[in-house]
Amino acid sequence: MLQLKAVVAGYGGGSVLRGVDLECAERTITCLVGPNGAGKSTVLRVISGLLVPTEGEIRMDGEPIGGRAPDEILRRGIAQVPQSHALFPAMSVQENVLMGGYLIRRDKKLLRERLDQVKQRLPIVAERARDHAGNLSGGQRRMVEIARCLMLDPRLVLLDEPSLGLDPRGLAGVAEVVQDLGRAGTTVLLVEQNVRLGLGLATHGVVMEGGKVRLTGTAAAVRDNPEIASLYLGGKVGDPSWTSESRPPSSTGDPGSPPTA
Ligand SMILES: Nc1ncnc2c1ncn2[C@@H]1O[C@H](COP(=O)(O)OP(=O)(O)OP(=O)(O)O)[C@@H](O)[C@H]1O
Ligand SMILES: [Mg+2]
Repeated sequence: MLQLKAVVAGYGGGSVLRGVDLECAERTITCLVGPNGAGKSTVLRVISGLLVPTEGEIRMDGEPIGGRAPDEILRRGIAQVPQSHALFPAMSVQENVLMGGYLIRRDKKLLRERLDQVKQRLPIVAERARDHAGNLSGGQRRMVEIARCLMLDPRLVLLDEPSLGLDPRGLAGVAEVVQDLGRAGTTVLLVEQNVRLGLGLATHGVVMEGGKVRLTGTAAAVRDNPEIASLYLGGKVGDPSWTSESRPPSSTGDPGSPPTA
């Protein structure tokens, strides 16, 4: 469904992505992991059109989309939930969610249908519809951000560090939403520093380092890879760059197990 081939991109002062190859098949959940600065968010940005690749190819359903405008990429069914969280705190939950339907704003019937669907999938949107988004907990905000991106009924959802800063309850909620996306047949590309959580939710895993993909495989194979296990899941868990910021290793017994809902 989505294919990146030898993608090179950066921010002016040299390349951050140095030839990235990546594929997401339809109805899979791919978890992209790697240290800070590896280029994970940059991969999502080139896919969603926020950054134009200088080399390489990005294809959706075989059609080149690299360098297309973000709204055109959205129309093709790719929606991103960015790492820096961007709800409008003084607006209501429902108003924030409706902004996700900007591209279909003229079709009031469709907009209403989508809002109803999103409320069914994420009950918080109905329960807190009139509350200011700024009054929600971190986990609730993350759900509203995901709800907002679902207004366009995307086929591919790009999620950047959805677990960041969340308490265990928030983590469980986000995990459930990702699983629900998978069950609904939505393809997900998930960036997660909480490696255990991310690979636990995913069908496939991709490890990036220094702007390149170092390893790909099924989530289980990546998780069980001895090098990955020692780097990301074992000995170096105390290194803060490998763990969720919300859960310093000293505060909990296990810094990254998928929470049980
Ligand atoms: N807007 C920007 N302008 C200039 N450089 C940037 C910008 N965004 C990211 N970078 C640089 O690009 C590199 C990769 O950043 P990116 O955000 O893709 O990494 P990441 O893997 O998502 O890291 P993290 O785990 O910290 O989120 C870093 O060296 C970063 O400093
Ligand atoms: Mg990032």
